[in-house]
Amino acid sequence: MSQGFFYVSGEELLLWRRESSAQAITAKIATQELDWLLQEIADLDALSLRLESFGEREKISLTCSFPELKSLWKRRIQERVPVQYLAGMTTWRNFKLKVAPGVLIPRPETELIIEIAQQATIPKSLDYHWVDLGTGTGAIALGLAASFPSATIHAVDSSATALAIAKKNAQLTKLQERITFYHGSWWQPLSHLAGQVTGMVSNPPYIPTQELATLQPEVWQHEPHLALEGGNDGLDAIRHLIETAPQYLVTGGIWLIEMMVGQGENVVSLLSEQGNYRDIQIIRDLSQRERFVLAYRT
Ligand SMILES: C[S@@+](CC[C@H](N)C(=O)[O-])C[C@H]1O[C@@H](n2cnc3c(N)ncnc32)[C@H](O)[C@@H]1O
Repeated sequence: MSQGFFYVSGEELLLWRRESSAQAITAKIATQELDWLLQEIADLDALSLRLESFGEREKISLTCSFPELKSLWKRRIQERVPVQYLAGMTTWRNFKLKVAPGVLIPRPETELIIEIAQQATIPKSLDYHWVDLGTGTGAIALGLAASFPSATIHAVDSSATALAIAKKNAQLTKLQERITFYHGSWWQPLSHLAGQVTGMVSNPPYIPTQELATLQPEVWQHEPHLALEGGNDGLDAIRHLIETAPQYLVTGGIWLIEMMVGQGENVVSLLSEQGNYRDIQIIRDLSQRERFVLAYRT
């Protein structure tokens, strides 16, 4: 997207917005997405969009040219590119985060994992180390940094693209001093933390391979498969995290993941069989769906 300021007349933008809303309805895309994009790109607020009062303004400033805005929306409708990739940003908890193709767009349902971490029983220690494994945009790491002001946060991803965006987000939110980023696979870059980790939080890839193509085109055609695909039963990464975490967690340390609805029972069995976890519990999201598992290192 171009830098700098561009202008369009209110009347022209109003006409285009009406046409584009109609296209959205035909394409079964929420019209709110158009307004969200407009609020990111134009100096418009939700009220002036709702009342269409902006139509009377002589000029409205844009962060890209009007033809560019039109072509972005065309990509939304024709190629099903997620609107957050078009805008280059999303909101998550109280953060405004940079996103780009190559990194998963953090989901609102994942926000709850931070509250679960806050409410978990935290083992007493002098040093608090939290890890976010598979950090993507860095969303969870940032949420942990904001929630645990005296902790050091370690964020890992095997995608260099994701990690570059996560570092940028740490700078944008001024939390960069609190988070160390590592490029590598799960615990592999964290050997120096063996036996010292207070809590592991992860939203790993958990979609069974054969289900990928059944996801909305926005997801499976545009979001990185590395962030989604969890092998035959979706549990490859989770199984690995169950096996490896006890070596890194302190006694009483927190093991917390997000998963797909329907995986809870298997994850609980795997944790019990591993033998180094206690107080294993499935936690529901705000829609009462089983989406998280919390356990503690014995
Ligand atoms: C479901 S996304 C979650 C991203 C972010 N934590 C969030 O909640 O929005 C899973 C992340 O795991 C990363 N990942 C996949 N395999 C990995 C591995 N072996 N080691 C570290 N990260 C991995 C992906 O690159 C992706 O960023």
